[in-house]
Amino acid sequence: MSLFITFEGCEGCGKSFQSKELYRRLLSYGIAAVLTHEPGGTVLGENITKWLKWHKELALSATGELLLFSASRNQLCNDVILPALNKSEVVLCDRFYDSTIAYQGYGRGLDFDTIKALNKLSTDGLKPKLTILLDMPAECGLARKNKRRQDRFEAEELAFHEQVRLGYLQLARAEPRRFFVVDATLSRKAIADLIWQKVTPSLRKAKSSRA
Ligand code: TMP
Repeated sequence: MSLFITFEGCEGCGKSFQSKELYRRLLSYGIAAVLTHEPGGTVLGENITKWLKWHKELALSATGELLLFSASRNQLCNDVILPALNKSEVVLCDRFYDSTIAYQGYGRGLDFDTIKALNKLSTDGLKPKLTILLDMPAECGLARKNKRRQDRFEAEELAFHEQVRLGYLQLARAEPRRFFVVDATLSRKAIADLIWQKVTPSLRKAKSSRA
């Protein structure tokens, strides 16, 4: 059954844990699934990620950042996401193009039309069926992060992260059918159960549309 689900949210919201948990539940029901993440997920993507996150000495422009995320995404779509969807698998992706709108658009202030055009180009128009947004106040998520080893994004000011959160909430408001917003301050188990309740009807639908 071909189904594309993405996880989004600010720093420390718990989306990596929740995407792994959903993956585990899918496999336990014998559902063929792939779990991947952005930026990264391919050899090229992992190398780009190192530059984007850890080379803080690099005076990377906001546009350069946008182009690197787009290059990483294009490789991931070509090598991992589209082949798995073509094999009728469920694909879970920890971050996708909404991250670019939230971080490079709302956070860095880049032009939304340019970002949307690049998102379309890098994904060949692929859209997630469901996007799970783990929402919490930006300062709560940042407080969960290791202060001693902050990457370029975590090291940004609180105001940047608040803009990112606002961006995500606006995206969710604009596409309520695609977004499922979950209160990320709930317990891990409560969040995982809410996500599972939301995903199971989509799994049934995807299965019946194949039959
Ligand atoms: P993380 O998902 O491992 O926390 O790290 C990825 C970082 O990259 C995170 O701070 C969000 C940021 N990011 C963007 O700024 N734009 C993007 O398009 C993506 C995918 C991530």
